[in-house]
Amino acid sequence: MFNFDETYSRRNTSSLKWDLMEKIYSIPDASKIIPMWVADMDFAAPETITNALKARMDFPLFGYTFEDEACASSVTSWLARRNDWHVPTESVLYHQGVVPAISTIVEAFTNEGDTVLVNAPIYPPFFNVPKKLNRQVAYAPLHEENGVYTFDFESFEEQAKKDDVKLFIFCHPHNPSGTVWSEDVLKRIDTICAENGVIVLSDEIHSDLILNGTQHIPFAKASSHADNVITCVAPTKTFNIAGIQAAMMIVTDAKKRQIIRKTMESHSQMGLNTFALTAVQAAFSEESEAWLHALIDYLNENVRYVIDTITQELPKINVKHPDATYLLWLDMRQTGMTEKEMMQKLLDAGVALDPGTKYGAPFDGFLRMNIACTRETLKEAVKRFIQALS
Ligand SMILES: Cc1ncc(COP(=O)(O)O)c(C=O)c1O
Repeated sequence: MFNFDETYSRRNTSSLKWDLMEKIYSIPDASKIIPMWVADMDFAAPETITNALKARMDFPLFGYTFEDEACASSVTSWLARRNDWHVPTESVLYHQGVVPAISTIVEAFTNEGDTVLVNAPIYPPFFNVPKKLNRQVAYAPLHEENGVYTFDFESFEEQAKKDDVKLFIFCHPHNPSGTVWSEDVLKRIDTICAENGVIVLSDEIHSDLILNGTQHIPFAKASSHADNVITCVAPTKTFNIAGIQAAMMIVTDAKKRQIIRKTMESHSQMGLNTFALTAVQAAFSEESEAWLHALIDYLNENVRYVIDTITQELPKINVKHPDATYLLWLDMRQTGMTEKEMMQKLLDAGVALDPGTKYGAPFDGFLRMNIACTRETLKEAVKRFIQALS
């Protein structure tokens, strides 16, 4: 019913993933390189979204639009249906992306010089955005054992207790390890943050992409202090429409909503553009869910293929099937190669991954691999990966 095997030529389409590699990797020519870096899939968006956009195009008036009740309802209905999380439509605020929303939230709830707490390893904007806004960053490293990541509450609490720590940016599910956090973990984080006056920003952009069949539990749903929590969600990773730019902040506390609105207004932030408005509602419709289920099956097969093939050929690589996301976090430390060496060999062989140090300085020896491409592309990429590192 859905053909994830269809290959689209994305070169020369202004695709960040395909057309920006020369710049990202400082190489003269990337025309033969398969990209497995930025979290963007090589699959067409579902027809529910493309048809809705085409229909919108047929009405050739593109004046100012606003996020009406129907849009908010599509968001809250999605969260209720998928995660049994029931929030009023008035709690939905909009932004053009989760990363811009993180900037707004950091600006709104911390002052210059304050500290923002993040885990390590972590999605780079979690520390880069606060730093660019002249905030300090404190790291609470995750505990790792044989590729399994768990929360280190001792170091987390120690950091959260510090007076200057005002905000914790949480990645749920976690990028890059693909960990889905349990309710118990969420509750403990919730208690520590509430007791120490630390606001929680829970980035749940990957929450629709659960691969292991478990149920995503929104942090705010598990929380006993929901007014202390701001949740970011988006249809953009789920349905591969990041270029359309759309995100939501779910903020149940009216006072916090007011503060966020004021910060957004100070930068004349307008929320969703006309096409995002249409795409969000189409994405968060019941009709899109069949596509999502098929996608998850395809991604699981891709993950299995990569892990089986790589670990058979290169047994020194340690990699776990992620609970969520289409990103593999490869522990390469036993190969004895430096990150620079590995990256060079891989680029020479024609495949571009993310270096581990992008996710925090201590992660030299790790690579992040995006497996969301057609099986045909994946097989070629894995072949090159093995050739490069054998
Ligand atoms: C955890 C996380 N948050 C946010 C984003 C990007 O969000 P946006 O494109 O809406 O800014 C990504 C993209 O990979 C991500 O992994």
